[in-house]
Amino acid sequence: MKTRITELFGIKHPIIQGGMHYVGFAEMAAAVSNAGGLGIITGLTQRTPENLAKEIKRCREMTDKPFGVNLTFLPSLTPPDYPGFVRVIIESGIKIVETAGNNPAKVMPAFKEAGVKVIHKCTSVRHSLKAESIGCDAVSVDGFECGGHPGEDDIPNFILLPRAAEELKIPFVASGGMADGRSLVAALALGAEGMNMGTRFIATKEAPVHENVKKALVAASELDTRLVMRPLRNTERVLANAAVDRLLEKEKSLGANLKFEDIIEEVAGVYPRIMTEGDMDAGAWSCGMVAGLIHDIPTCKELIDRIMTEAETIISDRLKRFAAG
Ligand SMILES: Cc1cc2nc3c(=O)[nH]c(=O)nc-3n(C[C@H](O)[C@H](O)[C@H](O)COP(=O)(O)O)c2cc1C
Repeated sequence: MKTRITELFGIKHPIIQGGMHYVGFAEMAAAVSNAGGLGIITGLTQRTPENLAKEIKRCREMTDKPFGVNLTFLPSLTPPDYPGFVRVIIESGIKIVETAGNNPAKVMPAFKEAGVKVIHKCTSVRHSLKAESIGCDAVSVDGFECGGHPGEDDIPNFILLPRAAEELKIPFVASGGMADGRSLVAALALGAEGMNMGTRFIATKEAPVHENVKKALVAASELDTRLVMRPLRNTERVLANAAVDRLLEKEKSLGANLKFEDIIEEVAGVYPRIMTEGDMDAGAWSCGMVAGLIHDIPTCKELIDRIMTEAETIISDRLKRFAAG
C-alpha cells in the first residue's frame, strides 16, 4: 500500500508503533520495522542521552529498516536532558522522530537542519494545525479512545479524523483504537494515510514486557479502561486495577484539592514493576479501549501481515461489492 506516510518514512506498510514507556525498547521497534511498519524507540525510557545512544545502536543491530525515536515533552519540575536527547538522536543518524506532549517548536530547527522528519502526536485539530505551522512533516491524530494521554477535549476518532482531514495539508495517521484491517480501512476512509497503534503492539510475541501484561490485554474488554488524573488536567487512559480504584477513590474524596503528591504512589515509577516484573496491581499504566479488540498474541509480522491482508480484502471485496450495488 502506498500513501504519503509510507513515502515520507520509506516504509512498506502505513502502520506505526507509537512510543510507549517501558515497552518501546529496541526489540519492539526492530520487530515492527522488520515487519514493514515503523518501529519507534521511546526516548525517555532510556533516562539518559547516553543510554538512548546505546539503545539506538542495539536496534540497528536488529534491523536495517527505518525506525524512529519518540521524544515526549512532559510538564516536569525536573525536566529530562532534552537538548542531550536531541543531540544523541541527530548524532546517531536517526531520521524519524515522533514528538508528543508539549509543542516541539524548540527542537524543530535542530531536527530540520539534520534532515529529521518529525511526526507530532496531537489530540486536537488546533494542536495539529499548530504542528503543521511549525514545520512538522506529519501528525498522529490521537482520539479519545487512545491509551495514554487523550487530552481534555474528549473527541473520538469518528469526529476527530475527518475534522483533521478538513483542515490539514500535511499527512496524518489515525491513532487510538486501531487494531486490525478494519481500523486501517476506516482510518483511510476518514482521511488518514495510515495508522498508529500502541496497546495492540504490546500484545505481540516480541514486545519486551512480562507475559502477565500481554495476558491482561487479551483478558480485558473495551469496558476495562479508566480515565485518571482528570482533576489535574493530565488525563490518562489506563487499565482498571486495584491501584487505579484507589487512585479514583482519592480523586473523588479530595475533589478540587487533589495534588499530584496525593497519588504519587499509584503513578510514579510504576512502569518497571508492571512491564518488567509483571506486578499487575503496582499502579496505573496506559491502555486503550482497543483492549476489547485484542484476542491473541501474534508476532509483529503476523499482526501486520494480517492487518494488510484484511484491509486489502475489505477494500477489494466488501466495499467494492457495496459500491457495485
Ligand atoms: C503502555 C503505554 C505507554 C505509552 N507511553 C507513551 C509515551 O511514553 N509517549 C507517548 O508519546 N505516547 C505513549 N503512549 C501512547 C501511544 O504511543 C499511542 O499514542 C497510543 O497507545 C494509541 O492508542 P491505542 O493504545 O488505542 O493504540 C503509550 C501508550 C501505552 C499503551
